[in-house]
Amino acid sequence: MGATRIDGNACGAAVEASLAERIATLPTPPHLAVVIVGNDPASHVYVGAKERACARLGIRSTRIDIDADADFSEVVSTVERLNADPEVTGILVQSPLPSGMDEIAITDLIDPVKDVDGFHAQNLGRLVQGDASGILPCTPAGVMRMLEWAGVDLSGKRAVVIGRSRIVGMPQSLLLAQKGADATVTIAHSRTEDMAALCREADVIIAAVGRSNMVVADWVKPGATVIDVGVNRVDDDSEKGYHLSGDVHPDVAEVAGALSPVPGGVGPMTIAMLMSNTVRATEMQQ
Ligand code: GUN
Repeated sequence: MGATRIDGNACGAAVEASLAERIATLPTPPHLAVVIVGNDPASHVYVGAKERACARLGIRSTRIDIDADADFSEVVSTVERLNADPEVTGILVQSPLPSGMDEIAITDLIDPVKDVDGFHAQNLGRLVQGDASGILPCTPAGVMRMLEWAGVDLSGKRAVVIGRSRIVGMPQSLLLAQKGADATVTIAHSRTEDMAALCREADVIIAAVGRSNMVVADWVKPGATVIDVGVNRVDDDSEKGYHLSGDVHPDVAEVAGALSPVPGGVGPMTIAMLMSNTVRATEMQQ
């Protein structure tokens, strides 16, 4: 028996379709500025996908490339300039920044109403206070939308989030536990003892750890829902020299009730939620 595939492309397309009408009623279209520092190849692929999504939806986008060896003050002055520009309604600084650059300092410099990543302390703080009505981090919000779309009932269910990152694991845990979602959440991480036993008890597993094929079939309760947030580059002999692999082993499809694929799962949802946040931020400013 194979797991139902939770199709992020289809769910993301539905999110984007619902945005088109809202964009059409805005006095001026949204304008997303994406700042990318350095040459991280994966970041360049993600930023390209974000720009293409903007083009699809009629959202203006501006990309600002900064050299990896630029002074930190150049990143600071770029964000300050975008904050002050009334034509820019959304700002995103692609993570990771080159080592030595303080990501949190940059995140907190972004005007919270233009913070389409939802990483500013003010936006994350609202979520901690139990208010999920503000701008939410794109990947965790996309996972919640996928679960809803797939008809997964979270109320009273056991959810295990593997990973405690600022971008995914931590906000994901808060969203799953919030009133209305009502899951019972465990955050697992590199120091967790007997991860396999913990996962075997879970009705929902969100794997956001960044380790290829870490979650194996033996860890999964039959019928559980598994969401794979991992995007890992694995070297191989192909022309490209690598392939993408999730955090969840393909054999999990034999045990799980529902599973999101990599690629075609969480990735397109993250982009769709970024578009949604950009529209929302623009509405708030206009
Ligand atoms: N790097 C990986 N995911 C993200 C994201 O959602 N936002 C930003 N800014 N950088 C990322």
